[in-house]
Amino acid sequence: MGKGLLAPSLLAADFANLGRDVDMVNQSEADWFHLDIMDGVFVPNISFGMPVVKAIAQKANKTLDVHLMIVNPDRYIQTFADLGANYLTVHYEACTHLHRTLQAIKAAGMKAGVALNPHTSVHLLEDTIADIDLVCLMSVNPGFGGQSFIENTYAKVAALREIIEKKGTQTLIEIDGGVQAHNAKKLVDTGADVLVAGSFVFNSDQPIETIKDLKAQIA
Ligand code: DX5
Ligand code: ZN
Repeated sequence: MGKGLLAPSLLAADFANLGRDVDMVNQSEADWFHLDIMDGVFVPNISFGMPVVKAIAQKANKTLDVHLMIVNPDRYIQTFADLGANYLTVHYEACTHLHRTLQAIKAAGMKAGVALNPHTSVHLLEDTIADIDLVCLMSVNPGFGGQSFIENTYAKVAALREIIEKKGTQTLIEIDGGVQAHNAKKLVDTGADVLVAGSFVFNSDQPIETIKDLKAQIA
């Protein structure tokens, strides 16, 4: 299997020391920044918005992977492009016209991602996979960090990998929620490309070391 990428989620950072935590990720072996945007409607929580993303973008020196857990994401595509997002991921469950949304994300100069809630089948993406740069499989119910990993995710990774291979696309598979040292390698071996890790990284006393250890497992 290929090399796994690691995307620490700043949702678990210390917001009173956000600059320090962004620097930590900059200096670490992590590959991307994962930014979770929650609107209190699509998910039962509110995280942070544009001014915070702008501040992070000014300091971050790695790919910005923005995960929108919001209704009507089309309204904000250009805004996140202007803020410097590299990947913009919308939820399948929040898009009435997913194909149109994907085209709009790409027209704004970003890579287009689709996130699936744990109950949403990967087979629903068979007709759009050629237009998707990244599929984010939620391995917890979105809305909060620190939840435990849903084991059915492995089956979804394998099924999605089959679809991607059958269609011959370059789509990346990302796993979001409950990623820790004990499941990281198995996820990548099953076919995942990008692992998001929030609390496991930021609750560590030595996050740089924790990132290094996770990377060593999935490299
Ligand atoms: C959950 C978010 C995740 C979250 C992951 O709704 O999409 O990105 O930050 O946090 P952990 O790794 O703590 O499960
Ligand atoms: Zn996320």
